Amino acid sequence: MSAVICGTGSYAPNYIMDNDRIAELVETNDTWIQERTGIRQRHIAKEETTVYMACEAAKRAVECAGISPEEIELIIVATLSSDVILPCTACEVQREIGAKGAAAFDINAACSGFVIAYNMADAFFAAGQYKTALIVAAESLSHLTDWTDRNTCILFGDGAGAAVLKSVPGKHFLSVTHSDGEKGWALTCKNRLAVEKSGFGREFYIDMNGQEIFKFAVRKVPELIREVLRKNGVKQEEIDWFVVHQANCRILEAVARHIGEPSWKFPMNLQSYGNTSSASIPLLLDEINRQGKLKKGDKILLAGFGAGLTWSGNILEWGI
Ligand code: UT7
Repeated sequence: MSAVICGTGSYAPNYIMDNDRIAELVETNDTWIQERTGIRQRHIAKEETTVYMACEAAKRAVECAGISPEEIELIIVATLSSDVILPCTACEVQREIGAKGAAAFDINAACSGFVIAYNMADAFFAAGQYKTALIVAAESLSHLTDWTDRNTCILFGDGAGAAVLKSVPGKHFLSVTHSDGEKGWALTCKNRLAVEKSGFGREFYIDMNGQEIFKFAVRKVPELIREVLRKNGVKQEEIDWFVVHQANCRILEAVARHIGEPSWKFPMNLQSYGNTSSASIPLLLDEINRQGKLKKGDKILLAGFGAGLTWSGNILEWGI
């Protein structure tokens, strides 16, 4: 059995913050941000919560799939920025959309979160345990952003994306996930307890060594893509789209160059949303789906990477 996506949805907060507005907060400018990252603007959750965005994206995905919420057997939400510690966001989504019978839980795998959630649902399908799943990724990174730190505040945005997955007969693709805890220091965000223990300071916010993460992504994502292809006996030319975590346009272009693919095969929407961590891949999938770019049977290689450090990939066949 294999997983196919049969519905997508997304939600981006109403408030849009462009680069000129950021330049009023820190010493930067629109030209620098666009040249170094590709980002023009980001959506910021002033009123919306993580749960609200997750539910909106989920409802749109369920509507797109044309199923009733009661058919959903499993809900996984990927987030590093839940509103509260308990209850988990997935249970809030289950209640709000009325997916009464579904098992629901959250995972935190930072920017690899959506791909790892997809891999988990796919593994449950392969084991024969579930046939219909809802995967959501939702992030309110603006609450974890130090708006006086130009290394990070230019990058991040808020939003959510979701996909309904169904188990169908067909080739089952094997996922690849790697982690390197030794390099965890390169991208951190402490919680309240950790801040209290270490003394007050900037540590409460996302702290990042941008160059280290940049080098890691440019080295590891091409390796990941090759490993996913090799493991599944799929030739690179069979892949129609490479949907990669939207962190920086220079990372996406470098990955495309390294594996010898044209950059149009790497769709991009970070110019409008910034880096929304786990939500970036489903936000992009929903956008290109609604633009009519994806055809039934298209092979899509998903690749996520980020804090942990973690990196994860898989292949899916478009099912809509
Ligand atoms: O989801 C995964 C998590 N994160 C990422 O994927 C981020 C990966 N890293 C990056 O995207 C890039 O490293 C950044 C966009 C964060 C930074 O770009 P960079 O090309 O690596 O810049 P840099 O840190 O090497 O800085 C170059 C120069 C420095 O000035 P000097 O020393 O050359 O005079 C910085 O001080 O640019 C300066 N600079 C800035 N200038 C204007 C750094 N940040 C800014 C800024 N505006 N915001």
